[in-house]
Amino acid sequence: MFRYVARSAAGKNLLRRGYATESAPDRKVAVLGAAGGIGQPLALLMKLNPLVSRLALYDIANTPGVAADVSHVNTRSEVTGYVGEDQLGQALEGCDVVIIPAGVPRKPGMTRDDLFNINAGIVKGLCAAIAKYCPNALVNMISNPVNSTVPIAAEVFKKAGTYDEKKLFGVTTLDVVRAKTFYAGKAKVNVADVNVPVVGGHAGITILPLFSQATPKANLPEDDIKALTKRTQDGGTEVVEAKAGKGSATLSMAYAGAIFADACLKGLNGVPNVVECSFVQSTVTELPFFASKVRLGKNGVEEVLGLGPLSDYEKEGLEKLKPELKASIEKGINFANQI
Ligand code: NAI
Repeated sequence: MFRYVARSAAGKNLLRRGYATESAPDRKVAVLGAAGGIGQPLALLMKLNPLVSRLALYDIANTPGVAADVSHVNTRSEVTGYVGEDQLGQALEGCDVVIIPAGVPRKPGMTRDDLFNINAGIVKGLCAAIAKYCPNALVNMISNPVNSTVPIAAEVFKKAGTYDEKKLFGVTTLDVVRAKTFYAGKAKVNVADVNVPVVGGHAGITILPLFSQATPKANLPEDDIKALTKRTQDGGTEVVEAKAGKGSATLSMAYAGAIFADACLKGLNGVPNVVECSFVQSTVTELPFFASKVRLGKNGVEEVLGLGPLSDYEKEGLEKLKPELKASIEKGINFANQI
């Protein structure tokens, strides 16, 4: 275990005085897979978040360097690095939010489902430890295929007797981030003002951006909406191909993961009306898990919001995605329950 704390009392006081959030409650956040392509920038972004007081960085290798590096950033949280499975318990103990970007990313030509064989086992192991060491933490699942890893996590927690559907989230924020960016470019509106819900799941056609509900309104022609939908669905592949074998989205994913974790922390701290899209246990459709807008609160999910009015194109997309999403969910459940 490697603990890095600002040593100078004067420096510490200066720091603490700098934050209006000094009275923010103690919140421990762990990043599992912290030395990876997503983990490293995500660790940095969580270190920048004044709502975090303790930041635990865990990986099976290379965390000491990442933790030492990030710990020098002069912000509120105390950073601790943990490496190897025997330190996982310490990393998790007392956590309020656990973010999981552990596992292998895609290479060109691979689908997210191609990652299943490796990542399913990683996620299963990490979730068993979460059930043991921090069963009340909010879990932010980034590891792909999210459509299957979230159901795996749910099954592991059920077996351990710790499952609380309000506390398990598949992180689909990157789909929202992409939809906002692409929409702003096409509609020629200020990207900072844009809102677009993205529902369904997190792979190919299961990603369903609802541009009919996008604001500010732009009345884009149907062809533009179709092109934007396809680009949002293929956004991950666009990055995988551009990186040409060197992995998938890491920087934009870290940004998206940091936004979602921040929303979880705000909810826990009682900030009202915090709404983000996420892949959660759901009754919005007949599928047991589904991504839609979710209101976050002191216990995690406060309310899973409905889809709202859909265009005919979106209705069609919704029906098309269901069989694939259903199969991915079942694959995860079956994996978790095999002996
Ligand atoms: P990476 O290979 O750069 O990093 C993964 C890290 O996980 C490595 O440092 C590795 O040592 C670590 N790791 C492996 N097994 C572990 C274990 N049992 N416990 C803890 N750490 C472990 O991969 P990258 O690019 O950071 O991607 C990570 C995952 O995130 C992939 O599954 C990828 O598909 C997914 N992803 C999800 C997105 C989303 O929108 N939800 C977007 C982009 C990627």
